[in-house]
Amino acid sequence: MEILAFGVQADEKPLIERAFRDHRAEHPVRCLDVFLTEDTAPIAAGHEIVSTSVNADLGAAVLEILAAGGTRMVAQRSTGFNNIDLKTAERLGLTIARVSSYSPYSVAEFAWALAMAVNRRVVRASNRTRDFDFRLDGLMGRDLHGRTAGVLGTGRIGEAFARIAHGFGMRLLGWDVAENAACVGLGMEYVSKERLLAESDLVTLHVPLMPETSRLIDAEALRTMKDDAILVNSSRGGLIDTAALVTELRAGRFTGVGLDVYEAEAGLFFLDRSLEAIADDVLARLVTFPNVLVTSHQAYYTQDAVGQIVETTVGNVLDYLAGRRSENVLVPRS
Ligand SMILES: NC(=O)c1ccc[n+]([C@@H]2O[C@H](COP(=O)([O-])OP(=O)(O)OC[C@H]3O[C@@H](n4cnc5c(N)ncnc54)[C@H](O)[C@@H]3O)[C@@H](O)[C@H]2O)c1
Repeated sequence: MEILAFGVQADEKPLIERAFRDHRAEHPVRCLDVFLTEDTAPIAAGHEIVSTSVNADLGAAVLEILAAGGTRMVAQRSTGFNNIDLKTAERLGLTIARVSSYSPYSVAEFAWALAMAVNRRVVRASNRTRDFDFRLDGLMGRDLHGRTAGVLGTGRIGEAFARIAHGFGMRLLGWDVAENAACVGLGMEYVSKERLLAESDLVTLHVPLMPETSRLIDAEALRTMKDDAILVNSSRGGLIDTAALVTELRAGRFTGVGLDVYEAEAGLFFLDRSLEAIADDVLARLVTFPNVLVTSHQAYYTQDAVGQIVETTVGNVLDYLAGRRSENVLVPRS
C-alpha cells in the first residue's frame, strides 16, 4: 500500500523515505511538495493513509474529499492540530494521529535565536557589514542578565526556553493553567497574565492555539507590556492580534518582535512568493519595521526534531495498521 505524504520539504524527503523504507518496505511512501488543500486533496484518491504537514488544510471540506476518495487515516507531522476539524474526522470515520512530542529544544532554541537577533540587531548588523558599513549606530541592545523573562505556557517548550533563560541569569515569570515543577525549581514565579506582561522584558509564547488562547495577545495585552519589551512567538500565529501589534509598532513601541508564526501564514509560509504582489497588508507592513524579524515557521526545523517527527509518523502509521492506540491518536480507528 502506498502512503501519500503532502507538503514535504526537500530536506525532509530523504528522512521520510528512509524511515518508511527501514520500517516497512511493503508500504512505500510517495512524497509531494504540494500542501494539502481543497485543490490538492483529490490527488489522495485511492490512498488509505495520507500524511500531512503543519499548514495542511484539514477542515471539513478537505476531510470530506479525502474520505470520499477512500482515505481512512491521516498522520499529521506536527504537534499542533489546530488545523484539523476533529469532529468532522470522527463523523467521517477518519483516524487522525499527530506527533505529540519531539525535541522541545528545536523550538525553544529557535525562540532564543529570534530573541537574541532582535535584541542585538544581528540582522541589521549583518546587512551593514555586507555593505562594508561598520558603524555601530542603531545596533545597541540590552543585557538580558538580571532582566525578566515571561513564559506564557510552561509545557515542554516553555520549560526548555526557561532553562536557557535561567542560564542567562534572568528572573523567570510563568503563566499556565498548570504549574511545571521543573520551572518552579528554576525559580519561576507563576503570576497572572497581566502581571507577567507588565513586568517582563522578554515575553515568549508557548501555549497551544485553542479557543481559550486565541488572540491571547490582543490590543489590551500589548498595551500592558513594557514599551521596550521583546515579544517572541514561536507557537501559533493566532495567539497574537497581528493588526493590533502593527498599531503598537507604528507607535514606536517594543525593542524587538520575533515571529516564527503568523495568523494568516497558510498559503504563504513554506512557499516562494517572492515574484508575486503580496495581498496581505498586515504582513507586508510587519516586515518593514526595523525591530521586527519574521521567519516562516522554521523553529522545529532541525535534523533532530524532523528525524523524531518522521520516526513517530511511521510509528503512527504502523499503529493504525495494527489497530493499536497511542497518545498520538486524536481520533481513534472506528
Ligand atoms: N514554531 C514551531 O515550529 C512549533 C513547533 C512545535 C510546537 N509549536 C507550538 O508550541 C506549542 C507548545 O508546544 P509544547 O510541546 O510545549 O506543548 P505542551 O503541551 O508541552 O505545553 C503547552 C502548555 O500550555 C499550557 N496550556 C494549555 N492551554 C492553556 C490555557 N488555556 N491557558 C494557559 N496555559 C495553557 C499547558 O498546560 C502546557 O503547559 C504547540 O502547541 C505548538 O502550537 C510550534
